[in-house]
Order: sequence, then C-alpha cells, then structure tokens
Amino acid sequence: MRCLISAGPTREWIDPVRFISNPSSGKMGYALAKAAKDLKMEVSLISGPVNLPNPQGIHLVRIETALEMQEAMESHFEENDLIIMCAAVCDHRPSVRYEMKLRKDEFPDRIIFKRNPDILKILGSKKKKNQVLVGFAAETADILNSAQNKLKAKNLDWIVANDVSKNDIGFSSDINEVTLISADGLQKQIPSNKKAKIAKEILDSIYPTCLEKVH
Ligand code: C5P
Repeated sequence: MRCLISAGPTREWIDPVRFISNPSSGKMGYALAKAAKDLKMEVSLISGPVNLPNPQGIHLVRIETALEMQEAMESHFEENDLIIMCAAVCDHRPSVRYEMKLRKDEFPDRIIFKRNPDILKILGSKKKKNQVLVGFAAETADILNSAQNKLKAKNLDWIVANDVSKNDIGFSSDINEVTLISADGLQKQIPSNKKAKIAKEILDSIYPTCLEKVH
C-alpha cells in the first residue's frame, strides 16, 4: 500500500527575507509517516519547513509555499492509495512577492493577500473509488460540526478533528488529542497522548477502510 502524507507549515514570501507562516511543527505529520511505515506502507512525505530529522526509509520531498505543496501533492496523488493532508497550509499568500529585499522605508503599510488553493478539496475532487483521503480540522469552536462539514465539502473518507484553542496540545506540542470521524458516520475519540501514539491509533483506525477500498 502506498501512502502520501503532507506535514508542517507553508511559507508565503513577501520578499526574499520575509514571509508569513504559522506555528505548525510538523510533528503530527512526521509521526503519521513513521506509523504508516511501521504498517509496511511505502511512504512519501511532502514537508514544509520544519526542525525535525529526516525520517528513515521514507521518501521526503521538501517544499516551502502552498503552491509548491499543491504541485507536489498533485503530482504524487494518483500513485498513492492512502493520502493524508496533515499540513497547516497558509490559506493566503501576499499577492506580490518582491524579488529584492524591501528596505524599511519601502515596506508597504498594507499588504494585499490572495487566496491559496484548497489542496485537500482539489484532491477530493480527483479521488478515485479505491483511494482513501484523510484531512485534518484544527478548530477552536464547534469542533465536531465544523469537522463533519469539511469532511463532506472536501469529499473525504476520514477527518481528524482537534481543538487548537488549548495551549498545551496541538500545533507545536508533543501531545495531541483528536476525534476521528468517518464518512460512514463512525466517530472515535483518541484521548490525550504523545503524537507518536496518536498517529498509530489514527492509522490503526483507518487501516480497515484502506483494506476495503484498495483491494
Ligand atoms: O478548511 P480547513 O483549512 O480548516 O481544512 C483543513 C484541512 O484542509 C487540512 O487537512 C489541511 O491540510 C487542508 N488544507 C489544504 N489547503 C489549504 C488549506 C487547508 O489542503 N489551502
């Protein structure tokens, strides 16, 4: 079984020395990649800039921007059976990327932003019957409802919802706490634990769907 995972943040450049981004550490996506490898899957990991060692035995592709992430995910999509979009993709990018560093006095008071493509939604629209597509939903309110809406809107098989309003779990922490929701209406709560353990539980839970769909 072949598995494609995205991890980490994206960087959206203003000029060669400035960007906007988010505090995603990539730990959850890297933990998922290792857990998939432990299930004997052949794993490709598309990673934004993170401070983590290169995982052993995994095909690693490094990208920076959402547009590069889109290109990498789309070009690997077809050959993979299980696709997990765990990256914290920036929803917007500056509409202009200056080629030269802006001097202090040249820096604009206002920056105009453009929407980035919703990569997961694009993948959902291309999904074949034998592919399993999983998304993440980082929420601060009405967590399960919003996650369920995203699952439908993006044509996913599973969504992993987590509450990012709690400071001690989620984004850059080693700990996470998630609820898994399937398109068939299954719901499974995975209590607070190390991301490695959460990743294993996520993969163990979705593995039966993979076996059913892929073979
Ligand atoms: O709609 P929302 O951004 O909350 O959905 C989160 C899910 O969508 C995550 O799986 C994330 O990786 C993915 N995403 C994406 N492209 C974006 C924004 C989010 O693939 N531009």
